[in-house]
Amino acid sequence: MRPSLLLAGAINLVATQAISASRCTPETFTPHLSSNASLIYAVPYGPNDTFVGPLGNYTDLPEYCAVYVNVSSSATSSYEFGLWLPTETWNKRYIAYGNGGFTGMVAFADMAPGLFYGFATVSTNTGHNSSVMEAGDAGWALNKPEVRTDWGWRALHGSVELGKVLTEAFYSEDIDYSYYAGCSTGGRQGLKSVQMFPDDFDGVLAGACAWWTTHQQNWDLKLATYNLPNNASHHITESQMDVLAAEVLRQCDGVDGVEDNIIMNGYACDFRPETLLCDSPSANTSTCFSADQIDTVYKIYSPWVETNDSFVFPSFAYGAEAQIELMIMTDDDEQDSPSGIAYPRDFVYNDADWPWQSLDFSTIQLSDQLDPGNATAADFDISPFKNKGGKLLHYHGFADGEIPTGSSIYFYKQAQKTLTPQGIELDDFYRFFLIPGMQHCQDSVHDAPWYIASANQPGAMEPSNVWSVPGFRDRKHDSLMALMAWVEQGIAPEEIIATKFYNDNTTEGVQAQRPLCVYPKEAKYIGGNWNETTAWECK
Ligand SMILES: *[C@@H]1O[C@H](CO)[C@@H](O)[C@H](O)[C@H]1NC(C)=O
Ligand SMILES: *[C@@H]1O[C@H](CO)[C@@H](O)[C@H](O)[C@H]1NC(C)=O
Ligand SMILES: *[C@@H]1O[C@H](CO)[C@@H](O)[C@H](O)[C@H]1NC(C)=O
Ligand SMILES: *[C@@H]1O[C@H](CO)[C@@H](O)[C@H](O)[C@H]1NC(C)=O
Ligand SMILES: *[C@@H]1O[C@H](CO)[C@@H](O)[C@H](O)[C@H]1NC(C)=O
Ligand SMILES: *[C@@H]1O[C@H](CO)[C@@H](O)[C@H](O)[C@H]1NC(C)=O
Ligand SMILES: *[C@@H]1O[C@H](CO)[C@@H](O)[C@H](O)[C@H]1NC(C)=O
Ligand SMILES: *[C@@H]1O[C@H](CO)[C@@H](O)[C@H](O)[C@H]1NC(C)=O
Ligand SMILES: *[C@@H]1O[C@H](CO)[C@@H](O)[C@H](O)[C@H]1NC(C)=O
Ligand SMILES: *[C@@H]1O[C@H](CO)[C@@H](O)[C@H](O)[C@H]1NC(C)=O
Ligand SMILES: *[C@@H]1O[C@H](CO)[C@@H](O)[C@H](O)[C@H]1NC(C)=O
Repeated sequence: MRPSLLLAGAINLVATQAISASRCTPETFTPHLSSNASLIYAVPYGPNDTFVGPLGNYTDLPEYCAVYVNVSSSATSSYEFGLWLPTETWNKRYIAYGNGGFTGMVAFADMAPGLFYGFATVSTNTGHNSSVMEAGDAGWALNKPEVRTDWGWRALHGSVELGKVLTEAFYSEDIDYSYYAGCSTGGRQGLKSVQMFPDDFDGVLAGACAWWTTHQQNWDLKLATYNLPNNASHHITESQMDVLAAEVLRQCDGVDGVEDNIIMNGYACDFRPETLLCDSPSANTSTCFSADQIDTVYKIYSPWVETNDSFVFPSFAYGAEAQIELMIMTDDDEQDSPSGIAYPRDFVYNDADWPWQSLDFSTIQLSDQLDPGNATAADFDISPFKNKGGKLLHYHGFADGEIPTGSSIYFYKQAQKTLTPQGIELDDFYRFFLIPGMQHCQDSVHDAPWYIASANQPGAMEPSNVWSVPGFRDRKHDSLMALMAWVEQGIAPEEIIATKFYNDNTTEGVQAQRPLCVYPKEAKYIGGNWNETTAWECK
């Protein structure tokens, strides 16, 4: 470890040495490849060069060496990874960024901000190519058990290991610290790595984790079926979902003591949907609900419990309606393949004609038995990661209408049940933060402060090339820097301040900031302007 001349808690992102871009050639890397791997390219990028990515182009980045590698992982599968190595400003740290949904795509949008910190950054396509536009599509998994395994864990682990070798070969120096950041599937990948490969990272930042693959993916389908068929008396329409969202806000906003449009704890509200019942046969049914439709509202917000009281999956917190709406609306012509069908059809039954109507508890049991690709990250004994000094920061938005907030709370509690009897205090190495108002991984409803510069987040901001939290590039506001301070200096985060920029545009200034608290503490209003951190205290 390098001696630090910085104040405690400040994060040193300064280069220890520059390296000539002329080393960015295939000859530098090829000798260090494992026998399964082949180099696709190694190309230096200067400040005026544009990297043409699959979803966007990246320009005005710090100088770097862009490397792309293909690894054959079995006789019938291969994965690719991108590795970007700063040539001016390496901070001697390494970071891997995760993926989203079922997509197969290197996370260039996260690697770009990673360069500004000075990280050597790596990301894999998870073993197949598919776009985020098709995040719910898993047709690539049908009849492809080895490709599922790449997506499940092998591509990330293999990319991280080989990426480290190539990084150290390029700089002829050791990596000081190794990190991970990912959200959604990326959060799952982070937890899977903590469980299966505790030595891969010193610090893991995992958001909105899709960790319980065998349950969550089937629950996605279950959720969609509550609102099918579209001509049924219990079917809720889009305009009714908007009415529901407004009524939830009306009933739940004040529960935390402040009517600021931000529901601080969406599970703390005793919501009564009956206020929405149509009160006459002639009522306008786009603004009120029938009794059958109220039943659907209850189903949407209830945990899935199956035969013999078997708990399958938690449901959403109140306040997540805007995204839930997208999960439960099925086009008339897509009613035979509703949202969520991909996993049981393409992973579990491996049958392109599997009918969603046959979803039942046996689907869950078979999923648990097979766990295709070993994707599920449900090994709660993460003590090996703790014992080697690892630190885990976990977060989840309270207005997440794609993956219920409760699934992260459930994971935390399972880890607690597993580790407390071993004499392990979770706070010593694993801290969990809920983000009121934040949707799935990024963005928020009603201008709630949400931005903590984690994976996926800079790409949701304007202008392009946002990195960290402009104006607040420190461990108190930037979740990655909070993790670095914990790993490198032993300063555990007591709170992280989330920021809302006007229009999510950093050049327009800060609209509001609010502390996020270490679970189970919550930010409580103590008076003053609620848009400022001083009005809140973690209790
Ligand atoms: C990059 O472009 C700017 C503006 O056109 C120019 O001033 C600068 O010299 C260029 N830098 C390099 C390294 O080519
Ligand atoms: C990226 O650059 C390529 C090549 O210049 C261009 O064809 C493409 O349209 C650009 N993509 C975007 C999203 O701007
Ligand atoms: C990667 O390697 C596999 C196995 O050798 C090969 O089938 C595939 O075409 C390669 N992919 C690329 C992009 O080179
Ligand atoms: C290399 O290929 C072999 C045989 O196909 C496989 O067992 C092994 O897991 C592969 N290694 C990596 C890093 O994927
Ligand atoms: C996957 O996409 C990358 C571009 O992002 C491309 O270079 C590569 O060849 C593709 N791989 C396959 C197997 O199509
Ligand atoms: C809904 O549509 C299906 C298929 O067209 C039809 O069989 C059924 O009777 C309809 N149900 C209602 C309640 O209209
Ligand atoms: C029902 O309410 C919707 C939404 O407010 C409105 O657009 C529509 O015109 C109303 N329909 C009738 C018949 O009043
Ligand atoms: C439910 O419990 C009963 C009694 O233990 C058992 O016979 C039955 O198999 C269980 N059902 C399932 C689906 O596990
Ligand atoms: C999943 O992991 C278990 C335990 O390590 C192993 O026995 C099993 O073969 C793996 N299954 C798949 C599909 O990779
Ligand atoms: C961001 O804000 C700046 C300053 O107000 C403005 O010039 C720019 O157009 C905004 N960007 C976007 C994409 O709205
Ligand atoms: C907080 O910010 C919002 C949006 O800018 C504004 O409408 C509200 O008046 C502010 N609240 C206080 C107490 O200043």
